[in-house]
Parts: sequence; structure tokens; C-alpha cells
Amino acid sequence: MRHIISIRDLGREEIGRILDEAAAIQSRSYDPSALKGKILGLLFFEPSTRTRMSFAAAMARLGGDFLSMDSVEASSMAKGETLADTVRVVSGYVDAIVLRHPKEGAARLASEFATVPVINAGDGAGQHPSQTLLDLFTIRQSMPLEGIHVGLLGDLRYGRTAHSLTHALSLYNVTIHTITPKGLELPAGLATELRDAGTEVIEHGDIASCVRDLDVLYVTRIQRERFPDAASYFKVASSYRVTPELLTGTKKHFIVLHPLPRLDEIDPRVDELPCARYFEQSANGIAVRMAMLLRVMT
Ligand code: NCD
Repeated sequence: MRHIISIRDLGREEIGRILDEAAAIQSRSYDPSALKGKILGLLFFEPSTRTRMSFAAAMARLGGDFLSMDSVEASSMAKGETLADTVRVVSGYVDAIVLRHPKEGAARLASEFATVPVINAGDGAGQHPSQTLLDLFTIRQSMPLEGIHVGLLGDLRYGRTAHSLTHALSLYNVTIHTITPKGLELPAGLATELRDAGTEVIEHGDIASCVRDLDVLYVTRIQRERFPDAASYFKVASSYRVTPELLTGTKKHFIVLHPLPRLDEIDPRVDELPCARYFEQSANGIAVRMAMLLRVMT
């Protein structure tokens, strides 16, 4: 069964194949009835705009249908049904499941009980592989991935998009620069794993000290919903902001990405700069998710 739970489930070759397929799809080379007669189940137990809507749109563009369940409260999980039973049952109704869940490891668990492929659309502070694929796709539109310098700014402790992305980047000999508020550094285990895999991870105190060395700046929001209490969130809230002034003197091909939603970490004036690619990045989610659906369902 072709589950996509962690970006680590896909090697460099498989990632390359999905990105190439997405590029072909974006240049209109695909069969609009490739998934005719198939149904995708969207189980989203956390808020989502982009991921849920783009998976639904991707399915529709391939001629398929989708069913969605958008909250625990509206499902039998509110009556105490386990996630394991829920996915077993839903497997009888659909041809693949896209799951977003607040608990790390939920997608892996779901894949053990599902009888159809499961795609992880975010499991707590764990992984978010479809986001990573569209991040890589967007970088590849501007430059080859091999050997570049990527800065990760923001909440690297709880940010699943950053966790997934670092794993993928380590496959391309990328140097990772981290810039985080105190206490929101990359989990120590992940940093060790990356370094053991030969990836250079350099920590910086502020963005100004490294931005001119970067090819890509990947900004993330502080994941307020994962903090143990409001006080610890407010200690770090609004502690960094990317402005046009901060980006002067950056490399010619330098780009700024953000998985979105953003709060105040990118000044809206940055949107007007040619290096701002975060809205293209979210639009790329359609082609990349179409390629993922084709991979798991055909
Ligand atoms: C991200 C997520 O859900 O992890 N959103 C997304 O899918 N684009 C990022 C975030 O919520 O900060």
C-alpha cells in the first residue's frame, strides 16, 4: 500500500518523480479523468484552508470525488470511537484517506488500520509531507536544490512543515541555517539526526547575520496551538518580522517562502518584492497534490 506518512518514506528518486509529474501537470499534461470513479476521504481534525481545499481541488481536477469529515465533534469519534476504528470504517467508503490530526504519530497509526492508502496532511508537531513536496517544487522552480543554503526562521520546535522540510533538504546536501526565538529551536533529536546524515545545521541569533548567505528563506509562524499555556506563547509572540529593509543585499535568485497562514512574521510590503514566492508556493499545492493522488491511487 502506498501510504505517504513521512517525507522519509520517499527517497530522493521518488521525490524527484513526484515533482517531475507535478511539473508536467502544471504544464497541462495530464488526464483529467485519471481518477474518475475514485473517492478521496478528507479527515481533518485540525483547522485547514490550503491543504484541505487543495487536496479537494486536486481530486476534482483528476475527475474524482471527495468526502470530508471536518471535526471530531461531527464524527462518531465524539461518541468515543477510536481513530483506528474510524479509519477502518472510512476505508470501506473511499479509495484513499488524507488525514490531519493534532496528535503526532496519528497518521502512522491510521495507516496500520486503513485498507486504503493514507496521506499524512499534518500530525501534530510531527510531519507534513505534502507541504514539503510543494516547498521543494517551489524552490526547484527558481534553482536546483543541490547544495543550496536554506534559512529556517520561526518556530522550529513545533512546526511540522519545518520538520518535514529539513529531512528532505538533507537529501540534497543543503546547508540549513536556523533562526529561532529562544526555546523554539529544532528538537535536539532531529538536529542530531540531520547532522548524523551529514547535513550542516548552523544556528544564528538573528536573521540579519545570515540573510545575505541564503538562497531560500523559509519563514514559519509560531504554532500557538501547541504551546502548553498562553503565557509561554506571549513570551515569544511577534519576536521576529521579515521586512523589505532586512532583505536588502540578498542574492539575485534569493526567494522567501512561507507555508502560510502568516500572522505578523512577514511585513505585507515584502509581498511586492520579486523574491516573495509564498502565494505561488500555495498555488503549487494543486499540481503537487494531484501528482501525490496519482501516485497513491493508480
Ligand atoms: C501549516 C500546517 O498546518 O502545519 N499549514 C499548511 O498546511 N500550509 C503551517 C502552519 O499552520 O503554520
